[in-house]
Amino acid sequence: TNRTFTMIKPDATSKGHTGAILDQIIKAGFTVKAMKWTKLSTEKAGEFYAVHKERPFYGELVDFMSSGPIVAAILEKENAVADFRKLIGATNPAQAEEGTIRKNFAASVGENAVHGSDSDENAEIEGNFFFNFFERY
Ligand code: GTP
Ligand code: MG
Repeated sequence: TNRTFTMIKPDATSKGHTGAILDQIIKAGFTVKAMKWTKLSTEKAGEFYAVHKERPFYGELVDFMSSGPIVAAILEKENAVADFRKLIGATNPAQAEEGTIRKNFAASVGENAVHGSDSDENAEIEGNFFFNFFERY
């Protein structure tokens, strides 16, 4: 088994989709190893998404991700990173497969309900960004 990291983004928490999204994640076989309801400052959001600094949507992304509460979590499952990205669907919900979390809950490519790590290495880095040793198991 291995791990991935997710955030339920501000669009989804503010629309009241948090419970339904967590339900879908857990029913898909992921175990929650750490979780917190929190809010990112613009500084923290900028740091988290620093890899996208040169992209034209970086400013919009940072503003959006600091616009309201998020839920951050470390998830465990066999093949966690790939299986989770399959569960959430394409970045743009218009292109996401039927039944995926983004198809079900996302409104646009910018406000797309959930984050999922894109590699084992980034899952580790992103989990460490939010959780210390005592906040996970
Ligand atoms: P994450 O799981 O959130 O990392 O999404 P992803 O891996 O499917 O997409 P990527 O890492 O390429 O982009 C990170 C995030 O930037 C996306 O999830 C979107 O929230 C945002 N984003 C990507 N493309 C666009 C865009 O064209 N416009 C805007 N406003 N935001 C974008
Ligand atoms: Mg990504």
